[in-house]
Amino acid sequence: MNNIELLKKEHENIQRMLDVVHKASLDVLQNDKIDVDDLKKMVAFIRRYADKTHHGKEEKYLFKAMVKDLGGPAEKVIQGGMLIEHDLGRLYVSDLDEALDSFKEDPSVENKLAILVAAGSYEHLLRRHIQKENETVFTFGEKHLPEKSMERIEEQSQAFEADVENAAEREYQLQVLKELEEKYL
Ligand SMILES: [Fe+2]
Ligand SMILES: [Fe+2]
Repeated sequence: MNNIELLKKEHENIQRMLDVVHKASLDVLQNDKIDVDDLKKMVAFIRRYADKTHHGKEEKYLFKAMVKDLGGPAEKVIQGGMLIEHDLGRLYVSDLDEALDSFKEDPSVENKLAILVAAGSYEHLLRRHIQKENETVFTFGEKHLPEKSMERIEEQSQAFEADVENAAEREYQLQVLKELEEKYL
């Protein structure tokens, strides 16, 4: 699996968690059920897997090389689009985390709404973000990056994956994903 294939595989896993988040949001509306501990696990997955593992690799290796080697058009799509969306995702996840804490202290309808708004905003943003990367951004990079850059990205990505701590975190988060899927889907 090369770097782009790996990033696309991670997109699939992130989308699986978005399906769980979606179902948990429906549970709030349909059954008035909010499991704060499960939602905190979703927040942790988003932060550690979707953001640190996945967005981290995009930002440090592929996107960095695209901006450096391809200039203008890549700069526009990466810095003016993808990186802003990564930041927006971080904001929505913080909102969700805070809404969960507030709900735990005061299970009011306002706090319930704040959970749904943050979860829905994150889900909507990430689904569109992933689609853009799969359909345009990655293809653009693959097509135009010099071979030397692609090789370097490959080495960097493989080193990240092989790191013992990164591997343990990845395995742990994928196990949590599986458990939440079994419970919610
Ligand atoms: Fe991204
Ligand atoms: Fe991505």
